Amino acid sequence: MKILFIGDVVGHAGRDMIKHYLPKLKSKHRPNAIIVNGENAAHGKGLTEKLYRELLEAGANVITMGNHTWDKKEIFEFIDKSPQLIRPANYPPGTPGKGIYYFKAGGKEIAVINLQGRTFLPPIDCPFRKADELVEEARKRTPYIFVDFHGEATSEKQAIGWYLDGRVSAVVGTHTHVQTADERILPKGTAYLTDAGMTGPYDGILGVERDAVIKRFLTSLPVRFDTAEGRTQLSGVLVELDSKTGFGKSIKRIQINDDHLFFD
Ligand SMILES: [Fe+2]
Ligand SMILES: [Fe+2]
Repeated sequence: MKILFIGDVVGHAGRDMIKHYLPKLKSKHRPNAIIVNGENAAHGKGLTEKLYRELLEAGANVITMGNHTWDKKEIFEFIDKSPQLIRPANYPPGTPGKGIYYFKAGGKEIAVINLQGRTFLPPIDCPFRKADELVEEARKRTPYIFVDFHGEATSEKQAIGWYLDGRVSAVVGTHTHVQTADERILPKGTAYLTDAGMTGPYDGILGVERDAVIKRFLTSLPVRFDTAEGRTQLSGVLVELDSKTGFGKSIKRIQINDDHLFFD
């Protein structure tokens, strides 16, 4: 069982990279399932229904989100009628949408769980306790459980990785938009990467037009952030899971840009 995960798709640059490279990644790696983080797909902020459908048409089985979930107000109109769209599960009870999705791929059932960290991010419910609840539920159905942990602090991401080791197939981080190089299979079998990185502008700052970000640091004044133009990148990770246990057999980073080509 192979699962391809693509990190935060930012604006049209990210969507163009998906359209161009996803077919190549599919023919090279033959993943059974594709998961895409779409929290920045609409000009860096949130997701529209049109773009949700576009990402599914490009090959994604499920779209995960993060702290930008609510940026486009139309999300409230379509999230509850979009089964292949999940937002962090540890938002308070009553929040629209859901944080876990089950689907069939390669003759097996896969559970995808989206969680959000609380360190340097808005305070929401405890992601660790929510993970306990959802993982227990998912393990009754399938050993194939993929977690997108949307977090700022590397410590919190490593903590959830170790906390879930031996209980889920993979924990992959998102949100920082910079890919980390610490991919590994943890001792009890969970494939882990602190952050998958971002898919979108390559020469901006985390995908944002860099002059605006520098001005913000220089002046501390409010600045309008637009997505950067120019060169583009794709970042993600490919995990291969044991067909009996559901645990990680291998984990490989994917990074496509003008300086790196981690493609196999
Ligand atoms: Fe993001
Ligand atoms: Fe984020």
